[in-house]
Amino acid sequence: MNVVMISPGYPVEMAYFTRALAKVGATVIGVGDQPPDVLPSAAREGLTHYERVSLTDETGVLRALAGLARHARFELVECLWEPYMLLAARIREAFGLPGMTVEQTVPFRDKERMKQVIDAAGIRTPRHASTTTVAGVWQAAEWIGFPIIVKPIAGAGSADTYRVDSAAELNEVLPLLRHVPEVSVEEFVDAEEFTYDTVCADGEVLFEHMLWYRPRPLQMRTHEWISPTCISLRDLSPPDLQGGRQMGLEVLSALGFRSGFTHMEWYRKADGEVVFGEIGGRPPGARVVDLMNYATDGDLYVGWAEAVVEGGLSQPLDRRYNVGSIFKRARGSGRITRYEGLDGLLAEYADAVVAQELVPIGIPRRDWRASVIGDGLVMVRDPDLQRVIEMTERFAAEFTIYAE
Ligand SMILES: Nc1ncnc2c1ncn2[C@@H]1O[C@H](COP(=O)(O)OP(=O)(O)O)[C@@H](O)[C@H]1O
Ligand SMILES: [Mg+2]
Repeated sequence: MNVVMISPGYPVEMAYFTRALAKVGATVIGVGDQPPDVLPSAAREGLTHYERVSLTDETGVLRALAGLARHARFELVECLWEPYMLLAARIREAFGLPGMTVEQTVPFRDKERMKQVIDAAGIRTPRHASTTTVAGVWQAAEWIGFPIIVKPIAGAGSADTYRVDSAAELNEVLPLLRHVPEVSVEEFVDAEEFTYDTVCADGEVLFEHMLWYRPRPLQMRTHEWISPTCISLRDLSPPDLQGGRQMGLEVLSALGFRSGFTHMEWYRKADGEVVFGEIGGRPPGARVVDLMNYATDGDLYVGWAEAVVEGGLSQPLDRRYNVGSIFKRARGSGRITRYEGLDGLLAEYADAVVAQELVPIGIPRRDWRASVIGDGLVMVRDPDLQRVIEMTERFAAEFTIYAE
C-alpha cells in the first residue's frame, strides 16, 4: 500500500510513525516542509520518496501530489500533526481517498464546532461560547458567570489560556488576547484532569489508555516552579474512571471517528461529575506514546501503523505497568550548571527508572513555556500505582536542575 505521510519528520515523534508505516509493509511517500537533509534518521529509514513543499501552500501541495499521482497511486493520506490535519482531509477529498473528510475533521480542530457536535449528542461540556470581539467576551462572561476560561478556538499546549475570576481580571486579560482572532469562553470546571486515548480501526477501539495529569495542564503552564508530572494508568477498571471511559466512547461515536489515534481530555469534579475537555484526532504529545510503550512493553507507533494500514493489531498491548513522567525546569537562567538530588533518587529507584533525558550540563536551559518537556524528563514504572505516585512526587520535589 502506498501511503502519503504529511510532515514525516516534524515534530520529531512523527519520524517514528513514518518508520512504523514502513515496518508494516507500506510504501511511504513523505510530504513536508523540512529540507531533506534535516529529516530525522527514523523518518529517512521509513520513506521511499520525499517531496519538499510548503505545507501552508495548499495549492502547491495538491499540485505536487498530482505530479506524484502520475507515477504512483496512493491509497492513504496520514497526518498526525494537528496544524495540517485539515490539509490531509482536503487531499483525501481531492484524490477521492478514504479516511476523514474536511467536514469530519473540522470538529477536531475548531473547539466550538467540537463542543456543538458533542452537545448535540447529549454529552456534558463546559458552558461555552465563541467570539471574535471584546464585547462578545463580556457578553459570554455575563451569561456563563465567573470563574471562566478564555482560550483560543484552535489552541494547543495551554497557550494564551487564562482562568478569569472577576470583571477586574477580565479587563487585565483582554489586552493579552488581542492577537488571538477567535476565542472560546467557557465555564471554569474545577476538577482533576485525565485523558482518554485510543487507537481505532474502522470505528472500533483497539487500544485504550488513560493519563492522569498532576497538576492540571493549565497550572503546569502557569507556574514555572512546578515540575509537571503525568501517570499512564495500568488499571482502567476503577469505578471513578468509568465516567471518563464511557464519555470517551460516546465522543468517538458522536464525531464518527474511524481509524487512527485519538487523544481526549476530560475533567472529574470532586462530586464525581465528568465533563468533556477537548479531543484531537492524533496521538498525545509530550512523549506519551513512549509512556504507552513502557506501559505495555509494546510498540504503539507500529500499533498505529497496523491499525491504519491493516485495520487490526498484531500485538497484545496489555497494560502491565503504571508509568510516570516528571518534567523538570531549571532554576536560574543561562547554562545548566548542576543537578541536585538526582543520584540519590536514581539509586533508590534503580529498578523503576526507564528513561532519563536531561539537558546536559554546560548547555543553555530551554524555554519552559515552549514545551512541557522543558529541561528534561525522567520516566519511572511499576505495577503498583502508589509507588509510581510516590516516585513522581519525589522526583518533582527533591530533584533540582540549576542554571546560571
Ligand atoms: N473550561 C475549563 N475549565 C477548567 N480548566 C480548563 C477549561 N478549559 C481549559 N482548561 C485548562 O486549560 C488547559 C488547556 O485547555 P485545552 O482546552 O485543553 O486546550 P489546549 O490543550 O489545546 O491548549 C486544560 O488542560 C485545562 O487545564
Ligand atoms: Mg488540552
